[in-house]
Amino acid sequence: MKIDILTLFPEMFDGPFSHSIIKRAKEKGLAEINLFNIRDWSAGKHKTVDDYPFGGGAGMVMMIEPIARCIEELRGKTAYDEVIYLSPDGKMLDQNMANRLSLHNNFLILCGHYKGIDERIREHFITLEISIGDYVLSGGELAAAVLTDAVVRLLPGVLNDETSALSDSFQDNLLSPPVYTRPADFRGWKAPEILLSGNDKEIAKWKHEQSIARTKLRRPGLLDQ
Ligand code: ADE
Repeated sequence: MKIDILTLFPEMFDGPFSHSIIKRAKEKGLAEINLFNIRDWSAGKHKTVDDYPFGGGAGMVMMIEPIARCIEELRGKTAYDEVIYLSPDGKMLDQNMANRLSLHNNFLILCGHYKGIDERIREHFITLEISIGDYVLSGGELAAAVLTDAVVRLLPGVLNDETSALSDSFQDNLLSPPVYTRPADFRGWKAPEILLSGNDKEIAKWKHEQSIARTKLRRPGLLDQ
């Protein structure tokens, strides 16, 4: 899978993409993640990428020209399955959406900043708008890192244990059961006996019951879906 990310702040991805699962996915050649600085597509001498909004109002707006030039150049090389814009007014990211996106070959993610991007970019280039929650971030970069992580970890071969993404919370609309490790007894706080019993069938049954109980208690709405 190839993910091309357009941003004004490529350095913001240094941390999230250089460790753990995403790092391993890149090293194994399972995910190719490319960062493009939108400023490099600004034609002006001063490399301007934002301007005052028509009609007034607070904040700056990302200009159409550098973004259009950048997307058009990249589209000349790659047929994207989706051109995604991250925005609080997009469709809410959930596990279903991550699952679906993980089946794509290529997508482009545009990160907005300031007061947003010129609306004409959304009308003419964007095929999917995604929000990661009902709150406002300073820009799309953190949201892009969240989306990328949620998708890349689902690619076959990325996780060591192939089944482990399937047992994540939200797959099957259930939250995960609680987990424990050594010591079995810490200051008298004991791990459930059943998990130490070696009885795989009973353990699986217990985990499923725990999942259902936890979902009923914490996220009952998931059970209706
Ligand atoms: N950009 C700013 N806030 C955002 C959010 N909640 N989700 C996605 N992109 C954003």
